[in-house]
Amino acid sequence: MPWPGEEMLARARRAWAQGPAVGDAIFAGEIPSSTTEAECLRLAELARGRRVLEIGTYFGRSTVSLASTAVAVHTIDVHPADEISGDDTLAGLMQNLDRYELWQKVVVHVGFSQLILPLLKPASFELAFLDAQHQREPVEEDLERLLPLLRPGGVIAFHDYGVPGVEHRGRWDPFGVTEVVDEFAAARGLSVELVETLAVVQLP
Ligand SMILES: C[S@@+](CC[C@H](N)C(=O)[O-])C[C@H]1O[C@@H](n2cnc3c(N)ncnc32)[C@H](O)[C@@H]1O
Repeated sequence: MPWPGEEMLARARRAWAQGPAVGDAIFAGEIPSSTTEAECLRLAELARGRRVLEIGTYFGRSTVSLASTAVAVHTIDVHPADEISGDDTLAGLMQNLDRYELWQKVVVHVGFSQLILPLLKPASFELAFLDAQHQREPVEEDLERLLPLLRPGGVIAFHDYGVPGVEHRGRWDPFGVTEVVDEFAAARGLSVELVETLAVVQLP
């Protein structure tokens, strides 16, 4: 019996043989997510021709946008079952990447960012998109670990800037993205571009 991945691999080989082709920006509005069309399209613009690191994949709406124009995307998530629907987010992601024929550009890392980021090669990405846990401490931790992975002049995009927090199981869960981004940018004299709740900072 042929290996079921053979057809996928053949498709990927054909795409790789054509070189690091980039495509038109995709917004996958049918994939469950809170990332908006304007945010996803800005991410696709930032990703064009670049090697991208994403932290926080979920079902892959932002991953599809990033991969639509990037050379390659490494995306990290622990992939627990979806809290609302109970659906398997990893299976959903795989179906979404397959449907958009983006497998040949995406490396899916399943696990905690705290464990995976230190294993990646320093200075190997030009864009990082941070959209995992939004409390102050994990944002600071992810930022500290992703910085050595970016090349000089690299770009960091943070999701949920300006969002004070969310009500979660009857409890207020305060977000710390805004403070972390503002302090990071101020300490380095960098400006922050905003697209809805997406904050974009370019490193020197
Ligand atoms: C807001 S969702 C990401 C949304 C996604 N960017 C999109 O466009 O739909 C946040 C994701 O981060 C993941 N996550 C949170 N903390 C993490 C960690 N420490 N390591 C890996 N994944 C994490 C969660 O499992 C969740 O799927």
